[in-house]
Amino acid sequence: MSAAVDHDTIRAELARARARTLALLDLPPADQVAQHSPLMSPPVWDLAHIGSYEELWLLRALDGRRPIDPSLDDLYDAFRHPRSDRPALPLLGPDEARTYLEQVRAAALELLDRLDLTGGPVEHEEPPSAEALRREGYAYGLVLQHEHQHDETLLATRQLMGERAAPPPGSRAWPSTAPTSPPPSPEVRFAGGATTIGSEDPWTYDNERPVHAVELDAFWIDAAPTTNADWQAFMADDGYDTAGLWSEVGWSWRQTEELEHPAFWRHADGGWERLRFGSWAPVEPTEPVVHICFHEAEAFARWAGKRLPTEHEWEHTATVGPGGAKRRFPWGDDDPTTEHANLGQRHDGPAPVGALPMGASPAGVHQLIGDVWEWTSSDFLPWPGYRSFPYPEYSQVFFGGDYKVLRGGSWATDPVAIRGTFRNWDHPIRRQIFAGVRLARDDA
Ligand code: AVJ
Ligand code: FE
Repeated sequence: MSAAVDHDTIRAELARARARTLALLDLPPADQVAQHSPLMSPPVWDLAHIGSYEELWLLRALDGRRPIDPSLDDLYDAFRHPRSDRPALPLLGPDEARTYLEQVRAAALELLDRLDLTGGPVEHEEPPSAEALRREGYAYGLVLQHEHQHDETLLATRQLMGERAAPPPGSRAWPSTAPTSPPPSPEVRFAGGATTIGSEDPWTYDNERPVHAVELDAFWIDAAPTTNADWQAFMADDGYDTAGLWSEVGWSWRQTEELEHPAFWRHADGGWERLRFGSWAPVEPTEPVVHICFHEAEAFARWAGKRLPTEHEWEHTATVGPGGAKRRFPWGDDDPTTEHANLGQRHDGPAPVGALPMGASPAGVHQLIGDVWEWTSSDFLPWPGYRSFPYPEYSQVFFGGDYKVLRGGSWATDPVAIRGTFRNWDHPIRRQIFAGVRLARDDA
C-alpha cells in the first residue's frame, strides 16, 4: 500500500484475500485434509491457521477480546507442531474451518468500522500495544500479508500434487503471442557508494527496519533473471556433474538427492519438459528458471563466472531512483499494475524475459518484482538496530539459522505482500518455492 490506508481499501483487500484463499481451498474434501508432501501442511491447516492468526492479531491483540476457542491456539501455532505432524492433529474439518473463518471475519469487519486509522508513523515496540497495532491499520496489514503468504504456500502445495494438481484458480498461461522487449544490455553496472536499505512505511515488517545506510562496492547485475535456456546450457556443460562448481555442502546435497535438473523437469524424446500444475509441456527457453534450490543457483553462478547478488545489492538495484532517491519499486512508488509485474497468480508461472518493460528500473533491470523469487548470497540476519515487532516468531527466531534470503516475489505473490525492501527466506535446499536466480559480479 502506498498512500495512507483507508477503511474502504482495507475492506476490499480483506475480501480479495479471502476470495483467493477460498478458491485455493476449492478441492475435494479428501484433498483438503490430506498431506500432499511432508514439507507442507494439509490445506485445511493453512485455512484455519489463517483464521486463527486473524483472530489473534485483530480480535484479541487489537480489540482485547477473549479467545473464541482456546484449544485452537495450540493446533494452529506453527511452532508447536512441525508441518509433518499436522495431519495427525484433531484439526477443524473443512466445514468447521470455514465457519470459524466467517465468525472471525465478521468480527474483524465490525471492529474495522469503529477503528481510527490515523496516528502517523508506526512505532515498533515489544510487547506491542493495541495502540501500536491500530495506527495506520498496522494489524490489518499484518493479517492481509499473512493470508497472501499462506496462499502462495497453498500454491506450492498444489504444485506438489504432481500430475493430479489443478491450475491456480483464475490464472491463465502467459500468452505466447504477447510482445516482449528484452533488456538491450545483458548486464548493468552500479557504481557503488552509499545507499539506503530498509523501509519504515506503515505496513513493512520488523525485518525491513530500521532504515539505514550501507556502502556498496561497484558491481554488475544481470538485467534479467536466469532463463531456462541459460540453465540448459549449464546442464549440457555437465554443471550438475562438476563438483568444483558446487560448495561442499551443496555438492553433498546434490549427491544425496541425485539432483540433475530443476524440480518438476523430465527428459522426453523432444527435449526437456516441465510439470506445471498437472500438465507436462516443453520447457520454455525464454522463461526464468524456477524450482531451483540455493545450492544449484550457486553452482550455476560459478559456472557462469559470476556470483549471486547480496541482498543489499539486490535492494539497491530494485529501489534506487534518479538522483539516488529510494523508491518502493524499480519503476517508482506506485503500487504494481499488470504492466509492471507478473504477480498475484494472474498467470500460472513466470513471464518470459522482456515481457514487462514498464516494470524495469531506470538503469534497465527487468523483472525484479514478480515472476520468480531470487536467491541472494545473504544469510537472514537482522538489520542493525532491529527491534522485534509485533512478535519474535515472525522474523527474529529465524535470524542466524540455516536460511538464505530471497527477494522480489514470484508470479504467485500478491502485490500487497511485496515491495523492493521485502525480505523472504528459506533453507538453501528448498525447491518447492517459486524461486529462481539473477546473477551479479564484482566490478573487475
Ligand atoms: C516469510 C514466507 C518465510 O511462510 O514461513 C507465514 C511467512 N510467517 N506465517 C513462511 C509466514 C508466519 C513465512 N515466510
Ligand atoms: Fe502463518
